[in-house]
Amino acid sequence: MDAPFPSPLYIFAAWRRRTTNPKSPPTKFKMPSFSWKSLLPGCFSETTAAGERRKKSQPAARRVAAGTSPQRISFSDLSNSSTPLSPQDLSLSLVGADLHIFSLEELKTVTRGFSTSNFIGEGGFGPVYKGFIDEELRPGLRPQAVAVKLLDLQGSQGHKEWLAEVIFLGQLRHPNLVKLIGYCYEDEHRLLVYEYMSKGSLENRLFKKVIAVLPWLTRLKIAVGAAKGLTFLHEAEKPVIYRDFKASNILLDTDYKAKLSDFGLAKDGPQGDDTHVTTRVMGTHGYAAPEYIMTGHLTAKSDVFSFGVVLLELLTGRRAVDKNRPSRQRNLVEWAKHYLCNPHKLDRIIDPALEGQYSTKGVEKAAALAYQCLAHSPKSRPNMRTVVETLEPLLELRDIPMGPFIFTVGGPGETEKNEGDDEEMAERKENSRRNMQRRQRHKARLLQSSVCTDTELYRAQRNRSI
Ligand SMILES: Nc1ncnc2c1ncn2[C@@H]1O[C@H](COP(=O)(O)OP(=O)(O)OP(=O)(O)O)[C@@H](O)[C@H]1O
Ligand SMILES: [Mg+2]
Repeated sequence: MDAPFPSPLYIFAAWRRRTTNPKSPPTKFKMPSFSWKSLLPGCFSETTAAGERRKKSQPAARRVAAGTSPQRISFSDLSNSSTPLSPQDLSLSLVGADLHIFSLEELKTVTRGFSTSNFIGEGGFGPVYKGFIDEELRPGLRPQAVAVKLLDLQGSQGHKEWLAEVIFLGQLRHPNLVKLIGYCYEDEHRLLVYEYMSKGSLENRLFKKVIAVLPWLTRLKIAVGAAKGLTFLHEAEKPVIYRDFKASNILLDTDYKAKLSDFGLAKDGPQGDDTHVTTRVMGTHGYAAPEYIMTGHLTAKSDVFSFGVVLLELLTGRRAVDKNRPSRQRNLVEWAKHYLCNPHKLDRIIDPALEGQYSTKGVEKAAALAYQCLAHSPKSRPNMRTVVETLEPLLELRDIPMGPFIFTVGGPGETEKNEGDDEEMAERKENSRRNMQRRQRHKARLLQSSVCTDTELYRAQRNRSI
């Protein structure tokens, strides 16, 4: 594989690949492309590392993939070897990634011994606890709340998903990706430490009945934020396909800024002339693109389809798959798709909980966009940059009928006026209580449903088309 001027991280990854797998072809570096300009791109703003004039129309994220190191280490560089990566190797290869390495004891302390009162929730990876870190734990640490995710050793995910999270999120930085602060890699223990997202997941906010209804503009703001996160991944110098875009993986901060979490299934995008990556089909029922389920061919357009499903969830207030509904309405896309491009029938599917408080024009445009994202043929789907450009102006549409509550949303720092800390605290306690009760039942269900194997997803798709 040819690569431009290699960074120390890249050299380390190549060296490791060769030493752990002597059959792997030697990595070739294009040394002639080295220049001071490639080392200090900011000082030579209009000239690329190769000395070519930069095209004005080139998207910013391609020029300098903001927040990524110039040579991001691919997941395959570090994971495709016969010997597992040692904690020392991992920390060496992620030098410069600004990640803290914590001990299990330290993380026990910050979560008060993983106490049930700190329990936030649980997914396929394992339980998540709230904690607090500051300078006392490690000099230089900004005092802040964190979410500590603990790998369940009996669960459906394992070291590979943990490593993917550390390698991708450790190197990718963007306002719409959740920040990975550090990790713990000790004996069989695998933990992840993230910035704490006080409004939890979109799934909880949108579908849990005990929580106040999300207003239309807040839903739109979340869609725009999540779309920006995906755009960043797709346009990075080494593109990333997220592969698990869904409401539970979109986390929300105090201002409802959306951030993508869970990179356990993320994949490096196709390189060179390749049009797709071929993988084992993994994902979540209701969100995965049909061509990916049928062929295992993964492209950025698979993420676009999943985005269309989440946009549909935001419009309808319904889950992608809901087994409690009549059989014809269980799969959201199958039930709602044909209404999306017909403005006269849209009101049949728009979330009744919104009580008509939305911009009609905004909803029509968002519905038409969701329809395009859900196109059967990947080529007919827009790319994520177009999605952002279509959705963002809809935030300015204010033809919204007045309702019983006042809220503002839009620029950073603006928050809903009818939600306070007390409500959040009570809600967290209630969530924690309910989550603990459901934990055992949920665990059993997860192994069968959430992240599923190729055959399961394939079977589900085939049965539907029969
Ligand atoms: N950084 C965070 N800040 C606050 N809450 C979080 C954070 N990360 C995860 N959570 C919460 O922890 C719970 C479990 O999240 P997790 O991502 O492990 O599982 P999931 O997304 O629900 O399921 P899946 O395994 O399908 O991804 C969710 O309720 C989520 O909102
Ligand atoms: Mg998740």
